[in-house]
Amino acid sequence: MPVILAIESSCDDTSASVCVDGKVLSNVIANQSIHEAYGGVVPELASRVHQQNIVPAVQQALAKAKVSKNAVDAVAFTRGPGLLGSLLVGVSFAKAFALARNIPLIEVNHMQAHVLAHFIGDNKPSFPFLCLTVSGGHTQIVLVKDYFDMEVVGQTLDDAAGEAMDKTSKILGLPYPGGPLIDKNARLGNPAAYKFPEPQIPGLDFSFSGLKTSILYFIRDNVAQNPDFIAENINDICASVEHRIVTILLNKLKKAAEHYGVKDIALAGGVSANTGLRLGTKAMCDKYGWNCFIPEMQYCTDNAGMIAIAGYHKYLKGEFAPQSVAPLARMPM
Ligand code: KG4
Ligand code: ZN
Repeated sequence: MPVILAIESSCDDTSASVCVDGKVLSNVIANQSIHEAYGGVVPELASRVHQQNIVPAVQQALAKAKVSKNAVDAVAFTRGPGLLGSLLVGVSFAKAFALARNIPLIEVNHMQAHVLAHFIGDNKPSFPFLCLTVSGGHTQIVLVKDYFDMEVVGQTLDDAAGEAMDKTSKILGLPYPGGPLIDKNARLGNPAAYKFPEPQIPGLDFSFSGLKTSILYFIRDNVAQNPDFIAENINDICASVEHRIVTILLNKLKKAAEHYGVKDIALAGGVSANTGLRLGTKAMCDKYGWNCFIPEMQYCTDNAGMIAIAGYHKYLKGEFAPQSVAPLARMPM
């Protein structure tokens, strides 16, 4: 009955979680609002705020799970990929905790953990399944053959889907992070109001940079004619952009499902919190008779619960990291 303490600090959220015998009992997330003023995450500020948040986040995670720090059997942490300074805070904390208590360390790949978030609840996909992992930094279609046997079969050649959401919101003058605001406005708009181009990329790869440029020119040209264009049409613009991003993602996901003959389809990563993507994926799965797996909201965006469940499965395999382990800004699946 292992008790695992997990730490996630790859970007701008400091998170701690406690998992007992494969059940995630707490998932504390401290968001950093400091970056809003800069329109994006400032790495140096992120690592400083992680330093302030990490001890209280761990204390709360232990308290919520009603677990004493002396009962922890292993510490799991995000090794990468992510911002080096941010990762360093979590890795250093995990190492110190493990050293002080003389317990093992478990390194976790953040992108694998997003996929493994599907094993937190009772409704679990069966191997092999396909997972569309969409976040601020990644857009991947992953063929998941086993807990730690994952193959990226499609990915973005330039911007990530979340980046496309965030850059669009910046063009529209909305605050960072823009994804949730695009989602909110899109619910009140007409997705067919404006047509944005679908990139013609062969295979299962994606591209979002052309879409970003076409949105930029579309807004620039319309604002030149009517300075109030954005304010008057914000809901329709958001609905149309979201619709295009979702159709780009789902067309490739459908192609991958058909190609690999896989019937269990999953979403992961921050953009899987998007209402249009969640509804669209469900509708597609219903249409083709596929099983659809979408994580609970708290396990979509960055969280330590997913690090805890990944850590639990590594604990079962007896895969531990040495005290000399260092964070990795880039870390392949
Ligand atoms: O996985 P995540 O929390 O952090 C990374 O590892 O990047 O993903 C963050 C991304 C951001 O781009 C954010 O705008 C987007 O997820 N996002 C959303 C929504 N919630 C978060 N995008 C669209 N709709 C949402 N509801
Ligand atoms: Zn993430």
